[in-house]
Order: sequence, then C-alpha cells, then structure tokens
Amino acid sequence: MKRLLPFVLLASAMGSFACVAQPALPLDDRQALIETLLERMTLAEKIGQLRLISIGGDMPRERIVEEIAAGRIGATFNSVTRADNRPMQDAALRSRLGIPIFFAYDVVHGHRTIFPISLALASSWDLEAIALSGRVSASEASADGLDLTFAPMVDITRDPRWGRTSEGFGEDPYLVSQIAGTLVRAYQGERLSAADSVMASVKHFAVYGAVEGGRDYNVVDMSPQRMYQDYLPPYRAAVDAGAGGVMVALNTVNGVPASANRWLLRDLLRDDWGFRGLTISDHGAIDELLRHGVARDGREAARLAIEAGIDLSMHDSLYLQELPGLVERGEVSIELIDQAVARVLGAKYDLGLFHDPYRRIGRAADDPAEVNAESRLHREAARQVARESLVLLENRERTLPLRKDARIALIGPLADSHVDMLGSWSAAGVAAQTVTLRQGLEAAIGESGRVIHARGSNVTDDAGMIEYLNFLNWDRPEVVQDSRSPQAMIDEALGAARDADVIVAALGEARGMSHESSSRTSLTLPASQQALLEALVATGKPLVVVLMNGRPLQLGWVREHADALLETWFAGTEGGNAIADVLFGAHNPSGKLPISFPRSVGQIPTYYNHPRLGRPYVEGRPGNYTSQYFEEPNGALYPFGYGLSYTDFEVSKPQLSQRKLKRGQRLEVSVTVKNRGARAGATVVQLYLQDLVGSAVRPVKELKRFEKLSLEAGETRVVRFSLGEEDLRFHDARLDFVAEPGEFEVQLGLDSRAVQSARFELL
Ligand code: BGC
Repeated sequence: MKRLLPFVLLASAMGSFACVAQPALPLDDRQALIETLLERMTLAEKIGQLRLISIGGDMPRERIVEEIAAGRIGATFNSVTRADNRPMQDAALRSRLGIPIFFAYDVVHGHRTIFPISLALASSWDLEAIALSGRVSASEASADGLDLTFAPMVDITRDPRWGRTSEGFGEDPYLVSQIAGTLVRAYQGERLSAADSVMASVKHFAVYGAVEGGRDYNVVDMSPQRMYQDYLPPYRAAVDAGAGGVMVALNTVNGVPASANRWLLRDLLRDDWGFRGLTISDHGAIDELLRHGVARDGREAARLAIEAGIDLSMHDSLYLQELPGLVERGEVSIELIDQAVARVLGAKYDLGLFHDPYRRIGRAADDPAEVNAESRLHREAARQVARESLVLLENRERTLPLRKDARIALIGPLADSHVDMLGSWSAAGVAAQTVTLRQGLEAAIGESGRVIHARGSNVTDDAGMIEYLNFLNWDRPEVVQDSRSPQAMIDEALGAARDADVIVAALGEARGMSHESSSRTSLTLPASQQALLEALVATGKPLVVVLMNGRPLQLGWVREHADALLETWFAGTEGGNAIADVLFGAHNPSGKLPISFPRSVGQIPTYYNHPRLGRPYVEGRPGNYTSQYFEEPNGALYPFGYGLSYTDFEVSKPQLSQRKLKRGQRLEVSVTVKNRGARAGATVVQLYLQDLVGSAVRPVKELKRFEKLSLEAGETRVVRFSLGEEDLRFHDARLDFVAEPGEFEVQLGLDSRAVQSARFELL
C-alpha cells in the first residue's frame, strides 16, 4: 500500500513555517508524487520550478525569499550555510504547494577543506584518493545545507591556453572517464537521499574543452569521430555512474550552441545514453542565444532552450518572462514544460527533499557556531591527497629530497601566498586556513635547519595583467603588489640565497591566471619571475623550482637551469605541508602528468594520442617533408603520464596470455615491476593500445588501463591487466562502435613515451 502523508504534517514537524493546508502527497511513489504535483500546479508555479537563482546576484535576498514563497523559484546557488539556506527553505514550504527548493554550489575540489585543483587530482592517478576528496567534499557541502554540486567538470582539453584546463582532469578520455565515474559515485554516495550525499551535475556538456585556440567561450567545431572517440566518453561515464544532473556548455557544438542543441541534449543525451536526470543551463546561457545569433529575441531563445531540452535555467530571466506567453499561444506545449518540471521534481525527490526538506539544513540548534571552525576541516585527508598529486619533473644529482639540517633560501612570490594555494573555484575555502609553502617548510624543518624567506618578485609587474586578475569575480583584489623595485626584491632574494645551502623557488601563476575566462597567449613565467629565476640561477647554488600553476607551462628554460623541478599545481588547504613532505622525502612523489607539456605555444596541441600520419616525423631521422616544426623537436617537453620518483623502477617487457584473440575471450597482459632503489615508492603502470591497421586512421596509442602501486625498496610485483574486445572498439567512419580484426600493439610503461610493446591479433 502506498504511504500517503499529509504534507502539512511533515512540513509542520519541521516547525519553522506557517501551516498551509494541503492535501496528502504520495510520498513513497516518485512518479505518483510528480504527477500529483503537476496536476495541482499552475503554469506560473511550473515555470517557477525551472528557475535556478544566484544568491548574491542581481536580486536582493529579501526579494528572493518573497519569490520563493510565491512559488517562483525552484532552486538557488551560491548560498552556503545552513543558517542562510534555512529561511529560503522555510519560504518554499510556505508557498502554496510547499514544494521544497534545493541549494547548489560549485564544489569542484573541496568545500571548506580545499583539495588540490582538479588537474592536480588527476595527476595522482589515484582513484581512491580522488574518491576521498569527493566524499569529504560531499560531507562538508551537505553539512552546510547544500544538495547539489556543479561538478565534476570533465571537459577534455588539449590546449593549455584555456584557463579552465585547471578545472578539468586533463587530455585523456580514459583517465578522465575513470575520474568522472569515481567522483559521481563519491559525491552521490550509496544513496543520493542520504543526508551526507550531494547530487553531481557533470559539466560542461559538451566538448567545452575544445574551444578554438583555447580562448574561453569560443566555438567548437569537431568531426563526429573525434567527438565520440575522445571528447564525449567522460560525460558518458558520469551519466553511466548515475549523475543526477548535466550542466550544458556555453559553447557552440558544430554550429549550434549547446543550449539550443536538440541533437546534443535530446538525441544523444536522452535517447542514446538514456539520461533521465536534470539538465541545467550554464550561467546566463539562454540569454546568450541572442548573442550567438540563433534567436531573434528572448521569446525565441526561451523556446529554443526548452525545445532543445534545458530543464533548469541558471541565472536567466527568459524562462520566467517568455514561457507563459509561449505556452498560452501554443508555441510551446505544456507537455514540454511538464517534462522539464517533472525532472526538477524528480531531482528533489531523489535528494530526499520531499521526505525531509531540511535533510541537509538540519535544525537551527545544531548549526555550527562558527562555519569556518578548524574542527570542520579535514586536513589529514587534504594532505594525503595533495601528496599524491605532486609531480616530480626533474631531479638532477638527486638534489631532492632536501636534508632537514639544510639552510634553505625560500624565494618567490608564491612561497607564502595563502590565496593562491586555493586555486580556482575554491568554494567556501578560506585563504587564511591554507598552509603556505613557507609554513609547511618551517613546520617540517629540523632544529638545525633554517628557512630564510624572501619574496624576490611580484607574480607579475604587468599592470594590465594585474588589473585583469583583480577584476575577476573575487571579493577583493587578490594580487597585491610589493611596492619595492624589482631590483630591490631580487637583491633581497640574493642576500637570502648567499647564506643558504639550497634555493627553493616557488614560481608560477596567480590562481586567477588559470581560471574561467583566463585564457593566455603565452605559457611562460611572467617576466618578473623569469628575471628573478635568472638571478637565482646565476648564484650557482643548487636550485629547486616548486611550480604552482593551473595549466602546463612552457618550461624549456627552467628545465635546463633548475636542478630539481616539482609541479605542485594549486595544492589546496594543506598544500604547504604536502609539498614539504615531498621536498624532505617524508613522502616519495608518485604523481604523473595527466596532460602533455608543450615546448612552446606554437606546438599546441601536443596531446599524446594523436592519429597516425602519412608523413610522420621520426626521431633521429632528417625532418624534411615530415610533419614537424623545423625550429623545434617534435613532441611534448614532458609527455602525458610522465613523473619521476626518488626511487627507480624497472618494468619488464609485457607478457601476453595469447597471440591470437577470439571475440569473447580475454587477453591477459602482465608485467613485472621492480623497485630497484633504496627507498619505498609508488608508480603508475600504464597500458596503451594501438590498432595497427583500421578502416579509419587510428591513434598512435590510447590509454586503456593503469594501476598505481607502492613497492618497498627492492620489491618486485607482477601487475596484470585483462583486456577484451570492448577495449579494442572505436567509432568508424559511420560512427559504428566496432572492433576490427587485425593486429594490435600493447604498449606498457611508466609514461606514454617510454614503453615496451608486444603484439596480438584479433580474429
Ligand atoms: C561556469 C560554470 C559554473 C557556473 C556557476 C559559470 O560561469 O561556467 O562552470 O558552474 O558559472 O557558478
């Protein structure tokens, strides 16, 4: 028998709003509940459910509360405490039908505890660590009354000029897909309705990471084969993992803006992939249909968006203004509106909000006295995850690890910066709660060692760049200039270096440089930092460069002159401690690059899994009339999958269980990995496949499996991978997903370049 609860009882049990008599709702039957509500709702109430309003945007909070109480808002975002969200939920329950609202936020790499940026999480190649970051994020966000996160962001990018490279997980479809599924499961927990689960809304659907020239919001134009093969899999993985939401991208996809793209949102997402959740437009995207020039006016924009399949409209007024008239004139059917409303109601149902609208807001009496209390942070998890994400790029003469009795000159504009440690999209993270590199080193260094700190330079002295960075949507200017002259700062740094055994230089980008809309034409260190670095190099002291940045940088000069190079990205709340753990060797670095580092901007794109060519450049042979740039060697400076350790690993040639594979059979691939060094360490064994002859041109290699493993000094382990026909499939010229008979090469190694291979044939 269905449970029929008078909604008024449930709501009044929460005790915080005036009772409005409502008939019973079938709370235990999702479909019946949705249908019952749809029958009761007026058109205005339905359209209200399709509005997602930004708190802190144009509308004052009092107005928002009134609008919610009038049933004209379905959800909000950017309000992040229980105390702030409770009055809004009270207002929703005061509305005629008492439909709860939900609260969303960009919890991208942490909520109060900030984990390393997404690109850094991907560098860990550690799905357990990534899951931990997701679970902690969900528990912290839900404890603040939040129900949904606009994450994971799984846009593949091959162009580091794009500022949002920092927000994604790199260039590889397989790695990013694995992370996408992992994070969806981590955010949503075992049951989405649980008080500590939040709904994942994967973004930005689709192919946003391929904006032309890496310039944000630019067009995307791509062959269907490339789209299916390389760019769509991560979104699909998130959908298959049960993501409740999909956020629609701002860009065009082959000529049609994603927000008006019926093929994308209906044919592909709903019909082919079977997605049944909620679609959400990106900020202001429906308005932007006018500027794209696909809609004559607001009315047409609203019609295009709802017809394409956008359920919830983020920060637009067009649904509110135009949908009533469109429905009344019969230009948009009420069925279309009902379908969108049903999905919003369904999301609220799945989140458990009909059963308990205060599921995540809780009772006022239980609110934290201090939202930023230390006790609410998960520092240990943040440190553990951050350590896994650091990538050792160079270590000549074993400069690292440092000795604890060393005198260290710590120099650089990022050495003591709290705010930059947070990286972009730092949710409710508080800069002052981050551990800077200076703090981390000082905490770790022994009694006999010393840290001598000097800033050395500003992040940049370029007035235009500073103005831009401080104009980004932060609460206050972030890039604060030292008023001393560049030379005075360098002199101070050289003074610090004079008394030191080793220099640690913390250089890179201000966090705003790798951010939404922060596309760059150059990937070099800003001139102020390059000048500082050159002065430090000239001292002849051992030099460790600790990079903090949100995208691959052009590192040729740095690589040549630094003794050690550690890529730390933006490492989050515990960044300084995690980096110190690696610098002093308490943790042996094991991160691997999830994206290729180009030698120069002119070389972009440098992705490793490129299709084969008729005139390939072959290293060591003359380059004439081959595919190359004549001023520079081919290939990335640091390839995908690359990263060093303080120990040395040896990998055997891959052994295959058979040379001929029948369909339906499994191929077992094994390799022996040995830690040849004197200390324990972890590495990532990577398995790539190449289809040697195909009906369409196939990539030189594609990642198909990986395993991160820890080995004691001297330890040997056999790593086994199992492959099947599904791993050999690709989208052919007709977009059929097929495995063609013929020879394949298995390539195994500890990065994408240094591999050993073996062949087999698919019969
Ligand atoms: C971004 C989204 C984000 C949204 C809400 C947009 O500008 O493109 O990624 O989720 O704002 O903050």
